[in-house]
Amino acid sequence: MLSTSKRNNIPKTPYSIIQKKRNGKKLTPEEIRWFLDGFVSKQITDAQMSALLMAICINGMDGEETATFTDIMLYSGKVLDFKEQAVIDKHSTGGVGDKTSFILAPIAAACGVKVPMIAGRGLGHSGGTVDKIEAIPGFNTSLSLDEFSEYLPKYGLVLIGQTGELAPIDKRIYALRDVTATVESYELITASIMSKKLAEGTSGIVMDVKAGNGAFMKNKTQARKLAKSMEDTALRFNKNIMTLITDMSQPLGNTVGNSLEIIESIETLQGRGPKDLTDLSVQLAGGMVYLAGLAKSHKEGIKKALATIKNGSAFEEFKKLIKRQGGDISYLSDFSKFKIAPISTQVPASKSGYITSMDTYKIGMHCVNLGGGRRHPKDLIDFSVGLTFHKKVGQKVKKGEALLTIHHHKKQLDLVQTINQDFINNIIKISSTKPKTITPLVFEVRTKWSKQ
Ligand code: URA
Repeated sequence: MLSTSKRNNIPKTPYSIIQKKRNGKKLTPEEIRWFLDGFVSKQITDAQMSALLMAICINGMDGEETATFTDIMLYSGKVLDFKEQAVIDKHSTGGVGDKTSFILAPIAAACGVKVPMIAGRGLGHSGGTVDKIEAIPGFNTSLSLDEFSEYLPKYGLVLIGQTGELAPIDKRIYALRDVTATVESYELITASIMSKKLAEGTSGIVMDVKAGNGAFMKNKTQARKLAKSMEDTALRFNKNIMTLITDMSQPLGNTVGNSLEIIESIETLQGRGPKDLTDLSVQLAGGMVYLAGLAKSHKEGIKKALATIKNGSAFEEFKKLIKRQGGDISYLSDFSKFKIAPISTQVPASKSGYITSMDTYKIGMHCVNLGGGRRHPKDLIDFSVGLTFHKKVGQKVKKGEALLTIHHHKKQLDLVQTINQDFINNIIKISSTKPKTITPLVFEVRTKWSKQ
């Protein structure tokens, strides 16, 4: 648990605490608690909170400050406890075409791990697990926390959306960060993610920290810094953590868009998925199996994870999950039932050569522009639109060959023309020489065990 500092006698004011952090000083646990309690009781205003967030964003926090911040956010709501059970969740820092949750969660459950997936909706250019699963009609992501707590030990796998009952101040603080340019703080991201994961009653967490032009962390140095902050915080709360730093400089798998990504996930669970998506899902699931104590090493966890795809048990878990939470399971065997936009427009290669890079952030934004994500919080998602890639970075292409297909509606022809040109001129770079190196999918795997 957190250590608490001795009460000092200097009177605290919001002003003095903001000033102290603005001047680059460390805040005591007591000061952070006093400030956040004041924010919860509305004695500290949004303007004062925003000023402190900006000071933190600029000057950072050390491990103790981050853990205190996390602790207060965590205990601002309910905290679940599944006692001795190995409850392991995975969190991804977000990317484009990242659909691993639908694959690794049933795999881990089939291996005996309890998987409490409390997932988010899309954020900016990055799609959200909850939006995607709703491409299957009837699937209920709004189970109550009581139902969630009953289902997890009984069935081993539950998938719901964020609930205001867990770490509720995170929602208020995140809303301020979103409009004050303070999302990009390693320590605030850590406190926001970890408080929600800890509140789910996890005993261990597998973190997929993405690095690249489609991720929030643009390079490995930034991703490592975030990974370290997450690890330090997990250990202070006596949780085991495995961090994978993974590539997000091209979409993961071949599809981007809600219905398309669910179909690709089902194919992957049935052993017919693209290599990069299968490999990453199995590595993450293998980490969950290892952290749960159900494998002696990460390697053995991966072997067990692969076996569940081969023997069909992972797909069975997925089917049971969909059925239990009200989804129409006929979609799993008949993909023609999914809403897919009626028009397919192919983007051709402008010359022959090798694909050297893709601007993955722009790819995510084009899916949003087609209606596959939200530009305003109240926008409705169009499950049917998206992109199917036929080529990956490093592959050889011939002039005129289709690089990808855009799935869209008739009324979007002008927009699609613009997107098409953007792909040809800016997004996908083709060179006549073969790239010397191809970025690996997984840069680093780090496991930290808590002492308890
Ligand atoms: N996701 C979260 O839940 N919180 C952050 O701060 C960033 C991403």
